Amino acid sequence: MTVLATETRALFMLFGATGDLAKRKLYPSIFNLYKKNYIDQKHFALIGTGRRKWSDQDLRDVILESVKDSAESEDQANEFASHFYYMSHDVTNPEHYRALSDYADKLEAKYETEGNRIFYISMAPNFFGTVAENLKSQNVLSDNGGFNRLIIEKPFGRDYKTAEELNNSLGKSFNEDQVYRIDHYLGKEMVQNIQALRFGNPIMESVWNNKYIKNIQVTLSEKLGVEERAGYYDNSGALRDMVQNHIMQIVTILAMEEPVAFKDTDIRNEKIRALRSLRIYDKDEARENFVRGQYGAKGEQRDYRHEDDVPTDSNTETYVAGKLMFDNQRWAGTPFYVRTGKMLADKFTRIDVVFKKPLIDVFDAGDKDKSGLDSDVLTLFVDPVQKVILHLNGKVPGQGFTTKGIDLTHVQSDEDRKNTPEPYERLIHDAIKGDATSFASWQEVGRAWKLADVVRNLWDTEKPDFPNYTPGSMGPKDADDLLARDGNKWVFTLD
Ligand SMILES: NC(=O)c1ccc[n+]([C@@H]2O[C@H](COP(=O)([O-])OP(=O)(O)OC[C@H]3O[C@@H](n4cnc5c(N)ncnc54)[C@H](OP(=O)(O)O)[C@@H]3O)[C@@H](O)[C@H]2O)c1
Repeated sequence: MTVLATETRALFMLFGATGDLAKRKLYPSIFNLYKKNYIDQKHFALIGTGRRKWSDQDLRDVILESVKDSAESEDQANEFASHFYYMSHDVTNPEHYRALSDYADKLEAKYETEGNRIFYISMAPNFFGTVAENLKSQNVLSDNGGFNRLIIEKPFGRDYKTAEELNNSLGKSFNEDQVYRIDHYLGKEMVQNIQALRFGNPIMESVWNNKYIKNIQVTLSEKLGVEERAGYYDNSGALRDMVQNHIMQIVTILAMEEPVAFKDTDIRNEKIRALRSLRIYDKDEARENFVRGQYGAKGEQRDYRHEDDVPTDSNTETYVAGKLMFDNQRWAGTPFYVRTGKMLADKFTRIDVVFKKPLIDVFDAGDKDKSGLDSDVLTLFVDPVQKVILHLNGKVPGQGFTTKGIDLTHVQSDEDRKNTPEPYERLIHDAIKGDATSFASWQEVGRAWKLADVVRNLWDTEKPDFPNYTPGSMGPKDADDLLARDGNKWVFTLD
């Protein structure tokens, strides 16, 4: 199935147009969509806002800088930048929205954008609700037959309660089907590929259950420490920053049932259904099934508590490993292990699906426990290289009969890599098309917070024994023990 773009006319309003994300990710992504004609090249305009007293030209200079490496010519870049307008605007001041609304009407008439408005809030999360509420109360929303869509950045709340408050606040101005919550992992090619591999191949889907799968492992490993984000990170920690959103989304796609059709509403229904059977632990279960870590020092590398802007008594976790269970027919008894951390051995994201061994190993006196057979493993490499490896057992060539592991490997070609859009490009394009498949719905986000809250509440009341892992390792020993207790081990190790 191919889902192609149609040119869509739209007026964008970007809150946070002077910020880092806009410069580094959003402008280059919108430019790529423009070059590919996924945005109507004539009928589109963007009003960028921030408190700074910029002129249109100041914003256009930033745009030109952001797209200079991918522009085919100066004329092309200039023509693109000419669609951008700047308005100095304080999002907390309701009066400013009236000026914004008038300006939007003017540009809508000039660019004939048919009343289609896309609002992108790329600001600190405490502003998400304020902007959304003012857009409605100050009549900035289009009311002449076009669409109104809201794209918002992460994080969506700090816990279930704050996430619910934010959601209620957005709900005063936008219906759920108008809200596009960005989780850029959902825009990654290999995360999208999970559904193609699962639902496009009976050979996969028929074994995608607890009868054949021993466990599933999701690893989001980072090589760097907190860098210049320490202020934000120390207030968040790995559980909120990576597990509640990115990891839970990946796990849900791995666990969900096949949707009735490959469209956003059907996919969301199945994701929500899967999450309803996610086991929400009590305190003791959370202690048993989650491990936290904080990196120590090694050589020149300071320990986390001595990084700039980190309190020396910080108990913030820079590492999390956990075991998730889905209490449904498909997954009962099959654990999903997840882990993420900073200052680990390397930067990569991978998913390992570990299959059960045959009940009897005919090659080795029939005893599967003494079997020389490897577990079959399907590994999806999400980052930095996109590839799929199916690890199987084969015969060692030659006389005798000995088995050995063999790999069937598919690596994304250079051509495919060139044609793969950056997650932000893909996601903005989807929002323009009105396709919410790769965005997180409120119910998904809420359920993930329910799980994260139990773990967070436990950790906030018990003092950890930090630091407990070395930079360059794959995390604390407790994370290995978590799997060992079930007779399992991480597929990727440094051993
Ligand atoms: N940067 C990243 O790599 C990254 C990655 C993932 C997610 N995110 C998310 O993206 C969002 C934006 O991040 P960022 O790094 O771009 O932040 P940033 O560089 O700090 O930018 C914040 C923006 O908000 C504007 N702003 C702040 N207060 C305002 C007010 N009262 N009225 C109007 N505008 C105001 C700022 O403009 P003025 O200073 O001109 O007012 C600026 O444009 C955040 O939700 C963040 O969590 C960022």
